[in-house]
Amino acid sequence: MVKKITRVPKHVAIIMDGNGRWAKSRMMPRSYGHRQGMHRMIGLMEHAYDLGVDYITVYALSTENLKRPKEELDGLFTLLRDHFLEYMRKVCARGVKLKVLGDVSLLPEDVREIIREAEAETAGFSGKGLNIALAYGAREELVRAANEAVKKGEPLTEESLSAALYTGGQPDPDLIIRTGKEKRLSNFLLYQAAYAELYFSDKMFPEFSDADLEKAFVDYAKRARRFGKTDEQCKAED
Ligand code: FPP
Repeated sequence: MVKKITRVPKHVAIIMDGNGRWAKSRMMPRSYGHRQGMHRMIGLMEHAYDLGVDYITVYALSTENLKRPKEELDGLFTLLRDHFLEYMRKVCARGVKLKVLGDVSLLPEDVREIIREAEAETAGFSGKGLNIALAYGAREELVRAANEAVKKGEPLTEESLSAALYTGGQPDPDLIIRTGKEKRLSNFLLYQAAYAELYFSDKMFPEFSDADLEKAFVDYAKRARRFGKTDEQCKAED
C-alpha cells in the first residue's frame, strides 16, 4: 500500500550494500546476493517513481569494487549482459532517461556496448532520470571535471564544476539511503551530497522492501532542510 507522504524527495540515491552478507547468511554464493539485489533494485525503482520521485541514482559498482576477485566481477558482468537491457527497458518505459555514471572505459567492451544501447534508447526522454553508477568513484569524477576546466583554461566555479560532473544538469540528491548497516558514503556523489539528507538502514539490500523505502521517505519528510539558513528565514521564503 502506498502511504501518503507529505514531501517526496525529488532525487533519491541508494547505496545498495549488503548483498554478499545476505547471501552468506543463507549459505549461498555472493553472486546469488547480487542477483537478488538486482531484482530488488528494479522493484524499488518502480516504487520510487510511483511515489513521485523524479531522479534515482543507484551505486551498482564503484571503482574500488573493480579490485574484487575476478569471479565476483564476472558474475556482476554476466548479470548485466543477461538482464540490464530488459530491466532498463521496463523501468524507462515510463519516459525515464537513463545515464550511466562512471569511467566506463574500465568495463569490458561488450558491457559498454550494452550500456550505449540502453542509454541511446532513452536519449529522447526528459523530465525523469535514472542514473546507474558503474565503475564510479566521486574522486575520479571530480578530478576529471577539474581537468576539463584546466584544459579549457577556465577558472572553476561551483556551477561549472557541478555541470562538468557525470550528473551535470540534474538536481542534487535530496536523500541518500544506504542499506547494509554501514554508515559512510564510500566515495559516492561527494560533491552532489553537500546538502543531502542521509538515511541508514540495518537491512541488507535484497531485503530492503518497498515499505522500507516508504519508511525512509516518511523520515525524510520530517527533516527540516534549512540549507544553512535559520528557521525564520526558511518560513519567510515559504
Ligand atoms: C555492495 O554490496 C554492492 C555491490 C558491489 C553491487 C551491487 C549491485 C547490485 C545490487 C545489482 C547489480 C546491478 C547491476 C546494474 C549490475 P556487497 O554485495 O559488497 O555486500 P557485502 O557488503 O555484504 O559484501
